[in-house]
Amino acid sequence: MAGNLKGRSFLKLIDFTPGEIGDLLSLSATLKANKRAGVTGRALAGKNIALIFEKASTRTRCAFVTACVDEGAHPEYLGKGDIQFGKKETVADTARVLGRMFDGIQFRGFSQQVVETLAQYSGVPVWNGLTDDWHPTQVLADLMTMQEEFGALKGLSLAYVGDGRNNMANELMVGCAKMGMHVRIVAPKALFPKAELVETVRAIAAQTGGQVTITDDVAAGVAGAHALYTDVWASMGEEAKIPERIAQLKAYKITRAMMAATGRDDTIFLHCLPAFHNHDTDLARQFPDICEVEDEVFEGPRSRVFDEAENRVHTIKAVMVATLGR
Ligand code: CP
Ligand code: NVA
Repeated sequence: MAGNLKGRSFLKLIDFTPGEIGDLLSLSATLKANKRAGVTGRALAGKNIALIFEKASTRTRCAFVTACVDEGAHPEYLGKGDIQFGKKETVADTARVLGRMFDGIQFRGFSQQVVETLAQYSGVPVWNGLTDDWHPTQVLADLMTMQEEFGALKGLSLAYVGDGRNNMANELMVGCAKMGMHVRIVAPKALFPKAELVETVRAIAAQTGGQVTITDDVAAGVAGAHALYTDVWASMGEEAKIPERIAQLKAYKITRAMMAATGRDDTIFLHCLPAFHNHDTDLARQFPDICEVEDEVFEGPRSRVFDEAENRVHTIKAVMVATLGR
C-alpha cells in the first residue's frame, strides 16, 4: 500500500496521482483503526524528524509530533527564530545540513519556493505543513473525513465558500478534482482563484470525471453540495487586510440558511480550523464581524470539524510512513 511513495516529498497534491492519494487515504484509515485499537507501530523507529515552523500552528505541529511518537520516531521542533534559516544561512545550506542529521523534514511557512528548495537540497523527504499557496496535509484529512461520511469520494460535491485565492481554496480545488469530485469555489469576483490554476484544475477534472465551478452566486454555488467548507477570511500574514476582507466576504458567511440552501439534509460542514465562530477570541472581540461561520452551524449536528482535526494525525502519519517508513 502506497509503497511506491518511498523517498518522495509531499509538497502539494498536484504532484500526486489519484491512485497515490487513494493509497494514502487507505493507509490513513488503517492507521486510524490501529490507533483506536491501541496498536502502535514501529514504522518510523529510529528516524529523526525536523519540524520547521515559520508560522504558528496547533493541529499541524501536534499531529506531526504525535504521529512521530506513535510510530517510534523522534520529532525536533525548530521554531521561527530558533535557527539561522534564511537569515544568516541560505535555505539550500540549511537543507543540506538538516538532511545529514534528519531522516525527514516538515516545513510550514510563507513561500512555496522555500519548501521546494528544502526538498531539492536536503536529500530526504520533505513534507509541506502549509505555505501561502498550498496545504496538502490538510486536504488529505478533509478527503478522509468526507470518505468516512459518504463512503466514496467520486461524484461528491464540495462548495468552498470564502477567500477563493488562499492555500485552502487552491488545495481543495486540486484534491477534489483529482478524486473525481465536483468542486465549487463560491467567492466575490475579487477573490476568485487565479485563472491559470482554474485551467489546470479543469484539465485534471476532465481526466477524473470531476467538475469545477467558480461563482460569486451563493445560491447556485451551494445547491446540492454534500459539504460546505470555509476558512478564515484573512490568512496568517494577512492580518492588515481583515477590515477589507470582512467587507468583501460578509455575504459569504456560512449560516444555517446557507446549509439549508444546499437542498440536502445530509450536507456536512467542514473547516480546516482555527475558526472564528463566536466572540471568545481576542481578534473576534476586536473585529465583531470577523466570523466566517455562524456558531449554530459550527456547533451544529452536521459539523465534522473535530473529526477533520483528528484526521490530521492519521493522514500525516500515513504521509510519513508511506514516504519514509519501513
Ligand atoms: N488546520 C491547520 O493547519 O491548523 P494549524 O494552523 O493549527 O496547524
Ligand atoms: N488559510 C489559513 C489556513 C490555516 C490552517 C491560513 O493560511 O492562515
